[in-house]
Amino acid sequence: MRLLVTGGLGFIGSNFVRYSIKKNHRVVNLDMLTYAGNPENLGDIECSPAYRLIRGDIADTRLIEKTIGPDIDAVVNFAAESHVDRSISDPAPFIKTNVLGTQTLLKAVLKANLLNKSRQGSPIRFIQVSTDEVYGSLGTEGCFTEESPLSPNNPYSASKAAADLLALSYHRTYGLPVIITRCSNNYGPYQYPEKLIPLAITNALRDIPIPIYGDGLYTRDWVHVQDHCRAIEMVAASGAGDGEVFNIGGGNERTNIEIATGILRILNKPLTLLRFVEDRSGHDRRYAVNYGKILDRLGWRPEMPFSAGLEETVGWYVKNARWWEGLKNRERQYQALN
Ligand SMILES: NC(=O)c1ccc[n+]([C@@H]2O[C@H](COP(=O)([O-])OP(=O)(O)OC[C@H]3O[C@@H](n4cnc5c(N)ncnc54)[C@H](O)[C@@H]3O)[C@@H](O)[C@H]2O)c1
Repeated sequence: MRLLVTGGLGFIGSNFVRYSIKKNHRVVNLDMLTYAGNPENLGDIECSPAYRLIRGDIADTRLIEKTIGPDIDAVVNFAAESHVDRSISDPAPFIKTNVLGTQTLLKAVLKANLLNKSRQGSPIRFIQVSTDEVYGSLGTEGCFTEESPLSPNNPYSASKAAADLLALSYHRTYGLPVIITRCSNNYGPYQYPEKLIPLAITNALRDIPIPIYGDGLYTRDWVHVQDHCRAIEMVAASGAGDGEVFNIGGGNERTNIEIATGILRILNKPLTLLRFVEDRSGHDRRYAVNYGKILDRLGWRPEMPFSAGLEETVGWYVKNARWWEGLKNRERQYQALN
């Protein structure tokens, strides 16, 4: 496939670009290089003839319309502002990138498809990489299915839900081939050290306290980033585009406190590094995802066992201190857990 990947210098996007090149796809990566976008994340493939980087904003209509043309089979939209705490401090960039940026991409794909049609070309498909956070919070029982109502509780998840609805409306109104994936929390290499797992690892490595929100019993369903990338590639390669939603989950529910203590155990650091801090407002208590649909339809299931994935991730941060030390020094205000 010939893919336009947006946000491919961030955590999941860079893992996806690397995975796609290994699967012999050609990738154009369009990224604005915000604080979360890092060219080093793809330093190993930047010279590959199958890869090209464009620096730019997904909300820039002229650039996007110039970039999306008949030489692309699918657009995979990872580009986003992605950190809940930042969205609580300042929602505006979340609306600009996550909502207006997605709309700009949808409009450009629609325009390119009308041109393709007049030349008997195949339509470009649009894959919107979304999140289980659009469903809001669960009680102690049950899982989100694709039919669960959207009930976002913070500006980040609200902006992602808005983008999902816009993408679905482009399918229903204009027949645009759209697919939405909603994945639970990812972990793995190249995750910016403001998010729970890399924050806990890098704080522990520096022997500084690991902040834990509230009672520490907030629960997330963890998926290794490689499993997520494999799912998205399967969705993109399936050729589907009929306005469907696929949930992606890991079957690995863990509380924040379990995650942080597990990391301290792997690093042989004392539990006294845990520091309970004031809770985040609007904090969702629990997320859990039913991934039965993507299993039935595409045969996808998570493969990475959580304990092995966490050990491997801790090992990656230990080996790649140079990658995270500079990032961590420049971002002192975002030291809380997600
Ligand atoms: N991290 C998770 O656990 C998780 C889980 C489910 C879904 N998602 C979704 O996956 C996607 C990627 O998440 P991530 O954790 O890799 O995010 P990230 O913050 O690590 O990376 C985001 C990337 O998007 C780029 N970007 C931001 N604004 C842009 C713009 N206007 N134009 C072009 N590029 C822009 C950044 O430079 C960065 O490279 C997001 O859409 C997020 O909502 C993330």
